[in-house]
Amino acid sequence: MWFRCKHIAMVSPQPFPVRMHLYLQVVLLLELCSQVASWNMHVQPNVRLQLQDVSDAKKFIINKDEENGVNYYKLLMTEGEQMLIGARNKILNISMVTLNETTMTRRLEWPPRSHDTAICEQKSQSKELCQNYIRVLGKDNDQKYYVCGTHAFAPKCRKFEYQVEKSEFKLDQEESGIGKCPFDPRHNSTAVYTDGKLYAGTVSDFQAMLSLIMEGTESPRRTVEHDSNWLNKPNFVGSFDIDDKIYFFFREMAVENINCGKATFSRVARICKNDQGGITAMKGIWTSFFKARLNCSIPGEFPFYFDELKATSELSQGNYMSTAKSDNRTRMFYGVFNTPDNSIRGSAICAYRYSDIVNVFNGKFKGQESAAHNWLPVPEFKTPNPHPQACVNNSLEIDVPTLGFIKSHPLMDAAVQPAGGGPVLIHTSFSSRFSAITVDWQVIAADNRFYDIMYIGTDDGRVLKAINKGQGSDVESVVIEDIQVMANNEPIVSLKIYKGHTERLIVMSQENIVSIPLHRCNQQKTCSDCVKLQDPQCAWSDGKCMARPKGIHNILHGTPEVCPDAGRAEGTSKRTTTSTPVPPPAIVPKSCKPCICASKANLSETEDGQQNHVTRSSTITPASDSVIGINSKKELLPCAPSVVEMRNDDQVYTASTLAIALVISVVVSMLVGLVIGYRISVCRHHTRNPEQMIAYEQNFGSLRKNPNRHSLDGSHNLMNHYTEPKKLNFVSNLPASKSPNLPNGTVESKIIPNNPNKTYI
Ligand SMILES: *[C@@H]1O[C@H](CO)[C@@H](O)[C@H](O)[C@H]1NC(C)=O
Ligand SMILES: *[C@@H]1O[C@H](CO)[C@@H](O)[C@H](O)[C@H]1NC(C)=O
Ligand SMILES: *[C@@H]1O[C@H](CO)[C@@H](O)[C@H](O)[C@H]1NC(C)=O
Ligand SMILES: *[C@@H]1O[C@H](CO)[C@@H](O)[C@H](O)[C@H]1NC(C)=O
Ligand SMILES: *[C@@H]1O[C@H](CO)[C@@H](O)[C@H](O)[C@H]1NC(C)=O
Ligand SMILES: *[C@@H]1O[C@H](CO)[C@@H](O)[C@H](O)[C@H]1NC(C)=O
Ligand SMILES: *[C@@H]1O[C@H](CO)[C@@H](O)[C@H](O)[C@H]1NC(C)=O
Repeated sequence: MWFRCKHIAMVSPQPFPVRMHLYLQVVLLLELCSQVASWNMHVQPNVRLQLQDVSDAKKFIINKDEENGVNYYKLLMTEGEQMLIGARNKILNISMVTLNETTMTRRLEWPPRSHDTAICEQKSQSKELCQNYIRVLGKDNDQKYYVCGTHAFAPKCRKFEYQVEKSEFKLDQEESGIGKCPFDPRHNSTAVYTDGKLYAGTVSDFQAMLSLIMEGTESPRRTVEHDSNWLNKPNFVGSFDIDDKIYFFFREMAVENINCGKATFSRVARICKNDQGGITAMKGIWTSFFKARLNCSIPGEFPFYFDELKATSELSQGNYMSTAKSDNRTRMFYGVFNTPDNSIRGSAICAYRYSDIVNVFNGKFKGQESAAHNWLPVPEFKTPNPHPQACVNNSLEIDVPTLGFIKSHPLMDAAVQPAGGGPVLIHTSFSSRFSAITVDWQVIAADNRFYDIMYIGTDDGRVLKAINKGQGSDVESVVIEDIQVMANNEPIVSLKIYKGHTERLIVMSQENIVSIPLHRCNQQKTCSDCVKLQDPQCAWSDGKCMARPKGIHNILHGTPEVCPDAGRAEGTSKRTTTSTPVPPPAIVPKSCKPCICASKANLSETEDGQQNHVTRSSTITPASDSVIGINSKKELLPCAPSVVEMRNDDQVYTASTLAIALVISVVVSMLVGLVIGYRISVCRHHTRNPEQMIAYEQNFGSLRKNPNRHSLDGSHNLMNHYTEPKKLNFVSNLPASKSPNLPNGTVESKIIPNNPNKTYI
């Protein structure tokens, strides 16, 4: 949250309605202005390309006569040069280099039974979705595979055995896939298969309301059902198998922020692989499930948060900044974060060290004395000893009070902070956001330094190639290329690097698969162009721009003085090829005249000046589509760099762009006003006495009866959870007196009495 509840509460002593909204809009815009001012470097891509400008690009073409619908491609696994892709009723086995489907083995096909299809269609799902979309693939060895599919909204998992003599897969065994695979191919689920076990983060019901993290078929262990403290409408983004634990990455409704209104936070959660569940009420429940917030924000007095995790890279050995030492790397990953849909459109990339994640889980827990209390760190003397996060040999031996603590404290107090203290790349745009990332880890460049090269997908079908060229602690990002890979602007859903006898970048949308080379050094014809690219993979050597770590280069500044053709460069390098590098854009604001910051006094005194604000606010968005690198060391400019000289032709604003900007600004301001008004009302009620609070919540609850209020549904569920926890939380099949008497009063009321016969799914 970049707007804090308390902050607003302090500045709003009076009843508000309209006047307050106006005032708050101003406060908000000013705050944003100061944030934008701190993004003091606008990075334009050095090169913009269309797919046809990319030499040796390949596109996967599926045999059209057999295709009569959407495939919802999902990259499941890679095996050497081959990648296995989950599709509609089949798994595709495609070469990452040629994108040809293999002819060596017969395709694994698995359509749903007609019976299941019929039921699915009766439940009014479309024919399109009543197919078997393969979402999960695990491998035991070269012969045995574990596969799960949506199976016409009745998920199933199968073991397949590969029969060498027939070159085909034979069905071995089938079981229910509920809790392992989503019902809907579009659901954001995740799964890791390791040591013959499938750890999945998904939903266990048709309506996709009951989220869970689960493992096991005969004696499953899972997260607590109907407990918003554990999982609250999560969208899973990824999962990793690390040492003795499985880590899950997701975004969810933030239960600790509910007093300030609805918000989504990004999370990392983990469980121990050897967790067998607890005893009594915790039978079949993880005893090692803990989660923490991921903080991706622009530092400042009021940090600007990118709260919605969208995708993660793989976990590997890297360094978020360039380094001169080959051994200066650490286990880490990169995440793609967005702002909420109703906010200013922004995306950021943040890097996280694994060691920082581990430290947070070793720290304090966050707790709440009762539903009406604030979320605060749990003091050490109230935390069980040994620290509950450690993986124990036998989880069945954990005592009941500790289990009670674990059940009521899944959230860690601290957030995981990004490496370098903030994002490594920021993007603001009216039209696109980041949607996927993959990293070429620690590539050695001609300057003998190592760089993590990021390939970032956007939801309008582009791929950006970017590095943090910063040495020392400064983050200074460069976007080397911006390639429109998907012609029809489809969102990129995943990216994958292949490194073998050749190097390729696989770009996937739900319906298309494209493979391009990792770099385009040889498309630069002059030394200046080669150097201006700032691509760590390219250097000018033997009269050619080549992919080799020696030759002429200037990754830090991209200035070609070192080149033999440097003198001529200014004149000749313009538009010789389609991929002519654009000179680095001017970073210094030309003037501050139209800047909203300058007219603070004007804004706060005019009550009828709404039109005024709106027009002005549009001037702080010159970044109609810009990627912003951050320089963490530079001081805040007194004013937003609202007039940035754009030398790139694409960046000239036409009347229609401005008109759109204006309309969007109006809409955004209105929305923002509404949201703040809403938050204030929530705050006000929560800071008053409990009776008022309950009255409010009942009031709120009654809204729910109106079926048209869909947009408010999420918070209702939460509110209901607090006002009537008993109805939701308790499976009352044990006498109340039998509930374990725990020393910690907060714990007792939250234990779910366990019924051994109860099936959790
Ligand atoms: C891949 O497919 C294309 C077109 O179908 C064909 O021309 C090419 O020879 C194939 N490549 C390989 C390595 O099989
Ligand atoms: C994919 O194809 C390769 C050969 O092209 C084969 O070796 C491999 O077994 C196939 N994998 C699956 C799961 O079909
Ligand atoms: C899955 O995530 C994408 C974006 O990350 C979002 O647009 C979509 O609505 C999500 N799907 C569901 C079923 O929530
Ligand atoms: C997130 O990071 C920012 C910047 O470092 C910091 O100011 C803020 O307090 C952090 N927020 C949380 C919840 O840790
Ligand atoms: C290694 O990298 C870290 C950043 O990840 C940096 O702070 C440190 O100074 C580097 N050490 C050396 C010796 O370059
Ligand atoms: C757990 O098991 C390992 C080996 O099985 C043993 O070395 C270790 O001491 C055990 N730890 C505890 C706390 O019992
Ligand atoms: C308000 O802005 C106008 C022009 O934008 C300026 O002439 C005027 O002096 C400003 N008023 C104050 C009080 O700053």
